[in-house]
Amino acid sequence: MQIFAFCLVLATAVSSAADLAGTWKLEQTGRNGQRRVTTYVFKTGGETFTGLVATPTEQREILHGVIRGNQIAFDTHFEFYEANRIDSYKGEINGEQLSILPANPPQGGRAATPIVLRKTSNETVYTPPPELARTHKPFPPFQPIAPNGLAQTPPMGWNSWNKFAGRIDDATVRAIADAMVSSGMRDAGYVYVNIDDTWEGARDSRGSLHPNSKFPDMKALADYVHSKGLKLGIYSSPGRTTCAGFEGSYGHEEQDAKTWAEWGIDYLKYDWCSASAVYHRDEMAPAYQKMARALLATGRPIVLSLCQYGWLDVGTWGAAAGGNLWRTTGDIRDAWDSMSRIGFDQDGREKVAGPGHWNDPDMLEIGNGAMTDAEYRTHFSLWSMLAAPLIAGNDVRAATPGIREILTNREVIAIDQDKLGAQGFRVRRDGALEVWKKPLSDGVAVGLFNRGAQAAWMTVKWAEIGAAAPSKVRDLWGHEDVSAGAEFAADVPAHGVALLRLRHD
Ligand code: GLA
Repeated sequence: MQIFAFCLVLATAVSSAADLAGTWKLEQTGRNGQRRVTTYVFKTGGETFTGLVATPTEQREILHGVIRGNQIAFDTHFEFYEANRIDSYKGEINGEQLSILPANPPQGGRAATPIVLRKTSNETVYTPPPELARTHKPFPPFQPIAPNGLAQTPPMGWNSWNKFAGRIDDATVRAIADAMVSSGMRDAGYVYVNIDDTWEGARDSRGSLHPNSKFPDMKALADYVHSKGLKLGIYSSPGRTTCAGFEGSYGHEEQDAKTWAEWGIDYLKYDWCSASAVYHRDEMAPAYQKMARALLATGRPIVLSLCQYGWLDVGTWGAAAGGNLWRTTGDIRDAWDSMSRIGFDQDGREKVAGPGHWNDPDMLEIGNGAMTDAEYRTHFSLWSMLAAPLIAGNDVRAATPGIREILTNREVIAIDQDKLGAQGFRVRRDGALEVWKKPLSDGVAVGLFNRGAQAAWMTVKWAEIGAAAPSKVRDLWGHEDVSAGAEFAADVPAHGVALLRLRHD
């Protein structure tokens, strides 16, 4: 009896392995009505299997697949996202139907909904559909590109994403440009007005990319922005689609660079997004460099901002790929935990930053409403200590006087924009209290940061930060000179900062 039962289980297992081998598909309709196909290809060998999962935006390897009867379990491996991401799944085969669920229930007690795949063939080799095939030639061996000479100090400007996301259009960009002038932002140094994702329309029969209906005439918009003494930035991806699912520049790099130059674009944020579907990780630097070369070839000075979330230690190759700045993190949120984690985590990256090539811990959230003014002062002070790009992300038209005052504090901006271009670093950490230092062309900036929820008395001795006794100490938020003895002490508010500039004349 027992032997008979065992044979039955074995028979089911063997037949399921054969059933599993092949190509399975899930067809979904996206929010904008576009068809999205996810393909699973399984290769079986006895009770184990491997394979891949392909979507229009990425490919993942299938690892550690095991079949038991009609039950399967496997991991997927994605080599870029969060460095090396492994996700575990389980599934059940029922004839031509395969239901898949995450192996671990999602947090928050919600039940996961299975995705249901249908078998479309017994093919165990993945051939991407023509519209998703890789069409680029192999890159020649990577050689550093000469600097484009731009962004000698960290870029300053505004970007639409943090506040407006997909709700950005021509009229809003013009109104923001007006407000950049009337608020004093432009005169404080914010020159780039950058349109982020969702401006893209379709390509015409010659492959030229056009804006969508939100942006009727990009050249006219650039002319308007330029007439205000500002510069215009735009956004694209090395992949086929941008993160918001719009047209990317894959296979059209030179053509798009020319189009942007003709419109009068001055800055490009180039966001990896779906590019993992067409490029291997070794091709990331050359894929960015391809656009850097295309921009250079236009003859128009265009700042290149790399956005690939800090993957593959981008600081070690971002400048060689032609980037003037590169994101070092995932997306910031308008929240103390997000901003402070990102900002204080930047310590140690100072070695790769300098004139023409900067670490970018993401755009500012100052004025978006979910942090206190003390927290926004910390945000601005920290980004300035980091020599980070200062790209405002608020609705400049609606900024309160308090927010305007933070964003246009010229004494703090001068720390960020110091011509030495040295990125600051942490010199001391006692629990929630941190002391940071940034070498300046004529002295040193010192930040006393209180990450704690209670006000704290903080002291710094110049000797401990390796600074000579200063002739002058300036409090950059109090806008006053303070006594220049052998140390400085202050009551620093919760989540707040005291920011100082030491001069040694
Ligand atoms: C990514 C980037 C963001 C923004 C969006 C747009 O998430 O990191 O800064 O550009 O894409 O889709």
